[in-house]
Amino acid sequence: MVKATVKKLCKQYTDLSDQDIKILQEMASSLQTYADLSGSYMFIDCKLKLSNQAIVVAEAFPTGSTPLYNNSVVGRIVFESFEPGVFYSYRNGKKSIIQQAMTQEGIVVGQTVVPIKNRHHQVIGVLISEKQVKSLLPANDVKTFSIVTETAEDQVTGAGLSVVSDLLMEMLILTDSDDRLVYANPAGLQLISEMSGQDDVINRNVLDMLPFLQSVYEQEDDVFVFELTTQKKDLTVKKIRMREKNKSQETLLIIQDNTELRTKEKELMMKSVVIKEIHHRVKNNLQTVASLIRLQMRNNMPVESRAAFEETLNRIYSISSVYEIILRKEHADDDDVNIINLTRKICSTMVLNEYNLKVDLIIEPNGNKIITSSKKAVSIALIINELIQNSLKHAFQGKESGIIDVEFIVDQDFVELHVSDNGVGMKDPQTSLGTEIIHNLVTNDLNGEFLYIPREIGTHAVINFPVGAEVEIFDE
Ligand SMILES: Nc1ncnc2c1ncn2[C@@H]1O[C@H](COP(=O)(O)OP(=O)(O)OP(=O)(O)O)[C@@H](O)[C@H]1O
Ligand SMILES: [Mg+2]
Repeated sequence: MVKATVKKLCKQYTDLSDQDIKILQEMASSLQTYADLSGSYMFIDCKLKLSNQAIVVAEAFPTGSTPLYNNSVVGRIVFESFEPGVFYSYRNGKKSIIQQAMTQEGIVVGQTVVPIKNRHHQVIGVLISEKQVKSLLPANDVKTFSIVTETAEDQVTGAGLSVVSDLLMEMLILTDSDDRLVYANPAGLQLISEMSGQDDVINRNVLDMLPFLQSVYEQEDDVFVFELTTQKKDLTVKKIRMREKNKSQETLLIIQDNTELRTKEKELMMKSVVIKEIHHRVKNNLQTVASLIRLQMRNNMPVESRAAFEETLNRIYSISSVYEIILRKEHADDDDVNIINLTRKICSTMVLNEYNLKVDLIIEPNGNKIITSSKKAVSIALIINELIQNSLKHAFQGKESGIIDVEFIVDQDFVELHVSDNGVGMKDPQTSLGTEIIHNLVTNDLNGEFLYIPREIGTHAVINFPVGAEVEIFDE
């Protein structure tokens, strides 16, 4: 059973040979004995073939002990950032002992990892032994929170940070009481040589090499976090001063490079500023066009031409309503438009400005919140404008008042927009530009349908279009 699982997982996830798998199978079959003998939790992990992670292929828990793990972890993926010891042994073919390690399950354990090698001395897996450690050490006791490797030369200047720190993206810099560099992990060394242009850095004064850290060292608190911006980099520097019975005073710096992140943030901000500016210009240009038309209308225009110009004005207003709604939002780079709000805006502009009829305009969202992209919103705005204008223009001839009803009905896949009036109804209609605009936008932009529903009094127009990535529905 154990052997079969090892074989199945190795075949599926690793590129180990049959011979290598046999070695692991043998080891797995005696894993339970090791676990019982040592009273610790035993695992075998193997590297995945497609990524730099590993997978647990076998496990054994000591019989009779309180379980450390609730469930089996066989088949689970192991990540380097959580289990550095595993990857250290893999890479270097050496044993590693971590006195306190946090597992992926969030348990603090003492962990010993030994590489499993084949006849060619290649590491084919690692054998892990874990025992639960009672509690975390106090945070200021950094030195006991260390890793001991098999050979002494792996330890760098007694700080004992080498295995984990080699794997960290953060830069670690340790200096003595005279601010001289005692230890830096590879990322730290790279930062120092990049910023100072020097390679031989150990034992040299860090402030001579990195003067921008002056404020960090001058600050009196033992533990402090700084945000530093140099000419080249944006850094977060965590300073931990380690006092040893008032003797020497070492300082550990943990530095995070946020330069890329900040550049991306700036780019995003620029993008959103540019988009907002574009929306502004579109809106202003539309207003300029509208003003030009109004000027022309004042300029001795024959009465019969006025209506046509008014219609054009309304079309322009309905498009600029979309931009006004977008610009009123906090984040103008997100160009989503609430169609109910848009409808209200179009209706108020049109009825109040252009006609002297007493019309009740009723908008019924039916609890729906319809959000579309600005492109779709422009089409919907123009369609609503045409339909309402038709009612205002044709339905109430010879009447003083009327009702126009704009209703949104939504099911999971479709939005229906109903515009109806209680006017004279359609008599022998001659289609014109208005109908053409609606047809074009409904079929080509909204992928929907446009039709009139027969009714006894007045006119009832319906357009329907599918819900999708650019048309989203929410409950309100
Ligand atoms: N709500 C309505 N009530 C009565 N008749 C209508 C209504 N809507 C449309 N019609 C009839 O349908 C015809 C076609 O409408 P359409 O919008 O295509 O043209 P229009 O409104 O006359 O001109 P425009 O091209 O400026 O819109 C109208 O001329 C009118 O006779
Ligand atoms: Mg019309």
